Amino acid sequence: MANLKDRIDGVRKAFEDAALKAGDAKSLEELRTAFLGRKRGHVTLLFEELKSVAPEEKREAGRLVNELKGFVSDRLQVLEAVVQAPVRPARTIDMTLPGRKRYVGTPHPLTLFQKEIEAVFLGMGFAIEEGPEIETDYYNFEALNFPPHHPARDSWDTLYIKDDLLLRTHTSPVQVRVMERSKPPIRIICPGRVFRRETPDPTHLPMFLQVEGLVIDEGITFAHLKGTLEYFIRALFGEKIKVRFRPSFFPFTEPSAEVDIECIVCSGKDASCRVCGGTGWKEILGSGMVDPQVLKNVNIDPEKYSGWAFGLGIDRTAMFAFGIPEMRYFYENDLRFLRQFGTK
Ligand code: DAH
Repeated sequence: MANLKDRIDGVRKAFEDAALKAGDAKSLEELRTAFLGRKRGHVTLLFEELKSVAPEEKREAGRLVNELKGFVSDRLQVLEAVVQAPVRPARTIDMTLPGRKRYVGTPHPLTLFQKEIEAVFLGMGFAIEEGPEIETDYYNFEALNFPPHHPARDSWDTLYIKDDLLLRTHTSPVQVRVMERSKPPIRIICPGRVFRRETPDPTHLPMFLQVEGLVIDEGITFAHLKGTLEYFIRALFGEKIKVRFRPSFFPFTEPSAEVDIECIVCSGKDASCRVCGGTGWKEILGSGMVDPQVLKNVNIDPEKYSGWAFGLGIDRTAMFAFGIPEMRYFYENDLRFLRQFGTK
């Protein structure tokens, strides 16, 4: 029996050594025959030897030989699976393929444009203020001198949340909030989202951006309004741009003016220009001297202080500045559109 045990260990060792060298299907086949072959396999022959083992030792000897057989056939199975596995082709690099470009995000065009506007006013010593998008009737209308039921309210198609709560239709309510909480001198701009009941079309959306401006101090006149707005427009559109002030009406300013700039698409030379409709001018903002009643509403003495204000549509002006025919492009998140702006 001791003799048989040595033989078993010897066969196992021989198999392990041989298995290390068998690297392909053919050598594994030979290995299988050499160890498990029906007639002359080394393991098979060990079974023959069992016959001459003493009866009381047969059980243990049989177990050892069977264990070896199990070990050899398991290992062969694994090695055969390994050599049959498909070989991965070596990775080759095709140097002629164009590289894959990874895009880095860029600021949204409206954000860029808003920042440009802010930079001009920050440079003139204005501060930036914000207000809520959900407003009360008082701040959106009444404090701005729209009495209840006043027909001027109809020019702002309002989205109501309930009786007294609405989505602000302009950024002008921020003026009121700032004047309530601070004393003159005041020099602020307030950019933000505004909402109106509009059916979307190329120049109207139910949500868009405005920037409001407000200056209150002693001795402020229409000349300040004109000078500041002209400076702002030239900073944005270049020195040569033509600007005109046109009389208008807003309940919260008196006198009021709308400001037009020369059509930068056709310069007034194309009677069928889609952007200016052939007029040669494009309205970009509303403005005026703050109505004394508005100052009274926030406890600022109109005998001592005066001021001017303006409100500009950011999207509309950006469309014009970038030459974009559709306001909806700004909100559709089409990367082909967005990637044309900002740093590449
Ligand atoms: N709030 C006005 C609008 O939405 C724009 C405007 C006009 C704002 C004159 C002003 C202003 O501050 O003085 O159409």
